[in-house]
Amino acid sequence: MSVRASACGKAILFGEHAVVYGQPALAVPLPSLRAYAEVVEPPPKHGIIIEAVDVGRRITYPSGTEAKDLLSHGLRLTIMNTLAALGVQEIPALTIRLSAQLPQARGLGSGTAVTAALVRALAAYLGKTMPTELLSELVYQTEIVYHGHPSGIDNTVIAWERPVYYQRERPLQLLENLPAFHLVIADSGIASHTIQAVEQVRAAWQAQPARYEALFTQIGQLTADGLRALEAGNLALVGNLMNANQKLLREIGVSSAEIEHLTATALSAGALGAKLSGGGLGGCIIALVEKDSAMPVCQVLRREAHQVWLVEVHDANRD
Ligand code: PMV
Repeated sequence: MSVRASACGKAILFGEHAVVYGQPALAVPLPSLRAYAEVVEPPPKHGIIIEAVDVGRRITYPSGTEAKDLLSHGLRLTIMNTLAALGVQEIPALTIRLSAQLPQARGLGSGTAVTAALVRALAAYLGKTMPTELLSELVYQTEIVYHGHPSGIDNTVIAWERPVYYQRERPLQLLENLPAFHLVIADSGIASHTIQAVEQVRAAWQAQPARYEALFTQIGQLTADGLRALEAGNLALVGNLMNANQKLLREIGVSSAEIEHLTATALSAGALGAKLSGGGLGGCIIALVEKDSAMPVCQVLRREAHQVWLVEVHDANRD
């Protein structure tokens, strides 16, 4: 039986890190950069085999004799939770191949997208429907393994594949009717380990709580302003607010020389605004561009970055 499921990557326009401390954040899906989970032949005699081709790993469920690291723990937990949530007691025999167009550990949600694709593939293979809320919750449970204390924004935007205005303990706001816009994404080529960045910020917040609370509040305010500017179609203002967000991310200590170089390069080539996306300390920058300046910004960044993508962010429900 041929089953192939996928899930999108994501970019955070405003609010990363502050979102962990209860501030709002705004994230958008990247439908053209996806992770895939495909059921392939031949099936094993028993149990599930996961072939994680991008990292050259083969993981069995239930657990085999191979090393038990974070990745194998995360994948096994995903399978266990998904089968339980779907009420499936007998473990099916199948091989699932995982792959992604998204670079790993670059703040584009690669790990989250792989998990979401795996959950979707399992449900599809078993002939079950997978409600989006449940998908998001299952992915969140795996995110805890990889990230420690995730805010929940990555699983939410990736499960819904819609722009989201996300704040912990608040009803989810799926954003409708946002005007389309273009982002140039440039990869610094340096791995961004979210758990490390989040821990670093936590330690700094514990050392200087008042200073960090003030920075998080300012980021939250920028996020709220960013939503209004985006809804009004004022991209010049959105760009300015992204620059202000980047300045605050620098102040909280999660930027890097490479990120600063790429954001400055994007701005000098005509981008409206540029910032890191995700955990930081490496990873990707996102630059907001007018359609006309997209190509010049891409060309200049291609000389400086590891990889560059031009993506159009638009509301799929408006097509
Ligand atoms: O997974 P990343 O690197 O895209 O980061 C997610 C955003 C953070 O705010 C840094 C962490 C979180 O859990 O919200």
